[in-house]
Amino acid sequence: MVGLLPFVPKPIVHQFSRRYIAGDDLAAAVATVREFNARKMMATLDVLGEFITRPDEAEATARAYHEAVTAIRANGLDSNISIKLTSFGLLLDKELCFRLVDGLVAAAGAVDMFVRLDMEDSPCTTDTLNVYRRLRERHQNVGIVLQAYMRRSMDDIRALLPLKPNVRVCKGIYVEPRAVAYKDPFTINQNFALMVETLLSNGCYVGIATHDEKLVWEGLRTVGRLGLPREAYEFQMLLGVDEELRQIIVDGGHRLRVYVPFGARWYAYSVRRLKENPAIAGHVIKRILGGGGASNGNGAR
Ligand code: FDA
Repeated sequence: MVGLLPFVPKPIVHQFSRRYIAGDDLAAAVATVREFNARKMMATLDVLGEFITRPDEAEATARAYHEAVTAIRANGLDSNISIKLTSFGLLLDKELCFRLVDGLVAAAGAVDMFVRLDMEDSPCTTDTLNVYRRLRERHQNVGIVLQAYMRRSMDDIRALLPLKPNVRVCKGIYVEPRAVAYKDPFTINQNFALMVETLLSNGCYVGIATHDEKLVWEGLRTVGRLGLPREAYEFQMLLGVDEELRQIIVDGGHRLRVYVPFGARWYAYSVRRLKENPAIAGHVIKRILGGGGASNGNGAR
């Protein structure tokens, strides 16, 4: 059923994906972050939009992020920003992309803010790591993401260790060929735990990004074994997913950051989130197939 999602009308995807997105504009994102901060949770803002086709769209993405940096500081929020390099033109013009991201990281650094480079699908991996390395020659306030499903990730960690990288570890969300990505969930989890352990035991700050309680447990086991203080790591979760686990982690005294996407270009992000949640995706499809129709407000929830 999940495979039918691309055929679902956008208004219906919008209705069901609202839980995953703070809203269409920066004001909505600021309000959401303020609520999280009041509950002792940090945030990272994501301006939605990826795989652009024109340089002016890359410039627009950069402007939107500069506004986000300003708003975070003006409102005294505990938040950083997460960016996707394709929305800064990585696939159009690598130099334009680097120039825009370099300017953003500098502006964020001037107000003591951290910038995370999200990791996209495997054709972008090497280019994203190259941009990260170039940025680190000039800035300290930038980090990277490595995906546990990627066969290359442990090699990437070994190569990056001399830089003491700040790494978000996640499972990985894109559909990849078996030649580049592990497919077996158990192996992906083993690799996730190994990556977290390797990074933490080499003194790197790690964002443990998962809603899988087994991996939260693995992370805590490693933190305990190494005797690390809470400033050495954080947990990260997506807006709209497993609020209960989020609260359990915070109540346990650990740092937790919520990934807060916002903006008009919500569609691709929403479809990825719905595919991860077969229960809701199933409701969306059933609502179409079951005769409820797009205009029927009484669809399955
Ligand atoms: P898993 O998918 O096994 O889910 C564990 C539990 O959470 C299950 O019970 C599941 O039902 C529930 N759950 C997971 N997703 C859900 C959803 N959308 N709705 C409802 N329930 C859900 N990926 C990437 O390739 N590049 C990146 O840069 C990032 N960045 C990133 C940041 C942060 C803060 C997070 C938390 C995740 C990412 N990801 C990502 C996505 C990540 O790779 C992965 O796809 C999702 O986090 C789901 O994997 P879990 O580790 O949660 O396990």
